[in-house]
Order: sequence, then structure tokens, then C-alpha cells
Amino acid sequence: MLLYLHIPFCDSKCFYCSFNSYTTLHHTQKAYMQSILKQLDFELKRFEVNRYDIETLFIGGGTPSCVEASLYKPFFKKIEPFLKKDAEITTEANPNSASLKWLEKMRFLGVNRISFGVQSFNEKKLKFLGRNHTPQAAQTAIKNAHKSGFLNISLDLLYGTNLDTRDLLNEDINTSFDLPINHISAYSLTIEENTPFFKMPSVKKDDENIAFWFSENLKKRGFRQYEISNFGTYESKHNLGYWRYKDYIGIGGGAVGFMKKRRFYPHKSVEKYITDPTFTTIENLNEEDIVTEKTLLGLRSVVGVDISIFSKSQMRKIFDLITEKKIYMQKDRIYNRDFFISDEIALYILS
Ligand SMILES: C[S@@+](CC[C@H](N)C(=O)[O-])C[C@H]1O[C@@H](n2cnc3c(N)ncnc32)[C@H](O)[C@@H]1O
Ligand code: SF4
Repeated sequence: MLLYLHIPFCDSKCFYCSFNSYTTLHHTQKAYMQSILKQLDFELKRFEVNRYDIETLFIGGGTPSCVEASLYKPFFKKIEPFLKKDAEITTEANPNSASLKWLEKMRFLGVNRISFGVQSFNEKKLKFLGRNHTPQAAQTAIKNAHKSGFLNISLDLLYGTNLDTRDLLNEDINTSFDLPINHISAYSLTIEENTPFFKMPSVKKDDENIAFWFSENLKKRGFRQYEISNFGTYESKHNLGYWRYKDYIGIGGGAVGFMKKRRFYPHKSVEKYITDPTFTTIENLNEEDIVTEKTLLGLRSVVGVDISIFSKSQMRKIFDLITEKKIYMQKDRIYNRDFFISDEIALYILS
């Protein structure tokens, strides 16, 4: 089982981001970190979690490094008995707030993997994206993480903006590979509603080949593409767990949970969540939803899809795709050769 903890605070709001995070609610942090304990108790019972059942913990956001390390202590104390001995424990972090002290303290609490929001090492591009850190701050934070004992370090890069040229992106890749990292998440900019970028669609560059070019460059450096946006010599167990359709507990405002065909949705609003942290609405998934999700997730990643979920007519289409060498089958699972056409392939099988 996987566990996700959502931290809905950010020091500034980036122009592209529609995540559930707020810059004006820092005064609620203490109350929020109390409420997550109440929800955690509730979910541990609902999911019938036993000792050592939690394989991975991912602290995401928002910006987990906005919250002092000491405020995480009670959460770690409560979850510790349920964590597998070699559990992967990841936190996201922003270069500005992830100080050496914060990193050392989080490492001491048991966090063993860190994922930095970097986006770019180009000063102009960082400003264009509304980022609050300099390229130097990102490099220092990553080096500090390594100094603090983190061996699994990832960074997020964002491409497909109007400022991007192959030279700029090559520089970003070169700088990344000079740092002590073993993982990169490379996201193509998506224009989201209710963000400043939504009113400026020209911020996105239309270049169909850029994703392919970018991924080929990361692969040339020895990082395996194990999902459409994820590359590394280390592959995140938490990520793989989602794509393998494992159950996951979601703790925090708007943090979705999933267990045996049901999804749980807590309050998204921080204030409402703090008042009632165990409230969730429940969504029941039907068989068709599950086949669709498993197909989409499996074809976007190295996980693949077990063919026992498909109908006879879907299997006929799968054999067509195998003949056309678009996908291949191994031990009753199908695998995609090109993650960038996963949606088209899934649509063809499922329609
Ligand atoms: C929660 S943030 C990472 C940690 C921290 N909040 C930060 O940004 O420094 C997760 C990542 O999602 C990606 N992201 C968010 N909105 C996006 C968008 N509209 N298009 C592409 N990537 C996006 C960014 O790369 C970002 O680093
Ligand atoms: S990208 Fe990260 S720092 Fe920027 S607003 Fe979104 S969650 Fe906050």
C-alpha cells in the first residue's frame, strides 16, 4: 500500500500551476498538521493497515519545504510502525525553502528521497514561469541535499514554453547532469484553467517533436524512460505503485485515496479540511472505468497491462497493434514501445 501526504502551502504561486496550494494560509499550518493526524488515524482503520504494510510514503504539494521539519515529527511518529523497513520516503521541495537545516532534519526523520521543483536553470525562464528562486539556489539546494545524505535526488524540468530553444533546453540538461541526481521528471507545459497563463496561450510553444527530442536526450545520458514524463537510473517505487494500480491512502486537503474500486475525496479547501479532516465523498468505479484506467496507466509506463482484463473484440485490436509493431506482448501482458502515443493506442483498444 502507498501513502500520499499533501501539503497545500506555497511561498509564491507559479504562473502555470493549478495545484491545490495557497500562499496566504501559512498561519493555518499548525492546525493543518494536527488535522492530518486525525485523518491518518481514521484512514489507517478504514484501509485496515497492519504493521509494515506501507511500502512508500510521498509528501507532495504545494511545497512541503514551506513547513518546518519539526511540524512533521508527530506524523512520522504515528506512521513509523506501519512503514516497511526499507520504505521509500520521498518529499517534494522548493529550492528556496529547502535549507540545509530543513534537509538534514527531514533526512533525520526518515525521508530518503527528495524531488526538487527546478523547471529550468535559465534565469529568464524562471522569471517567465513566476518561479521565486534563482538557478544558483536550485543548484545549492540539490548539493545540500546530497550533503545531508540523500542518495535519491530527483528534479522536475518543464519544457515547451515560448522561451525554449534546443540550446536552452540542452543547457538545462547539461546542468542537471552535473548535479548529484539519479532521476528527472520532465513535464511538457500544460495550460491550466484559473492560472495567469490561461489568458496567455502564446506562452506555450507548438512543437510536436520537442517531447521526443527531450526524452531522447535524457535517455542518451543513461536515464531510462520508465513513464512518459519520468526518467532515471533509480525508478520511484511510489510512482510505479500508482501505475500498478495499488491501493493508496491520501492524507490532506484534496488528497485522493483509492481502495478496491473506490476513491475517497477529502475537502479540498484547507479551512474545511482542518474543521473536518475525516470527511470524504466516495466515488465507486465500475469495471469499465477500471479497464480504462489500467490501460491508460499501463501503456504510459513500463508497467504494461495484463491482457485478462480485455474483451474478445479488444483482443482483436491488440493483435492488430502487435502485428503493426506498435506494442508487444510478454507473459500475458502488453507493453507500449512509444509512451508518447499511449493515449492514441489506449483509445484504439478501448473504443
Ligand atoms: C508540487 S510541484 C514541485 C514542488 C514545489 N512545489 C516546486 O514547484 O518547487 C510539482 C511539479 O509539477 C509540475 N507542474 C505543475 N503545473 C504544471 C503545468 N501546468 N505544466 C507542466 N508541469 C507542471 C512542475 O514541474 C512542478 O515542479
Ligand atoms: S509549481 Fe510548486 S511552487 Fe509553484 S505554485 Fe505549483 S506547487 Fe507551488
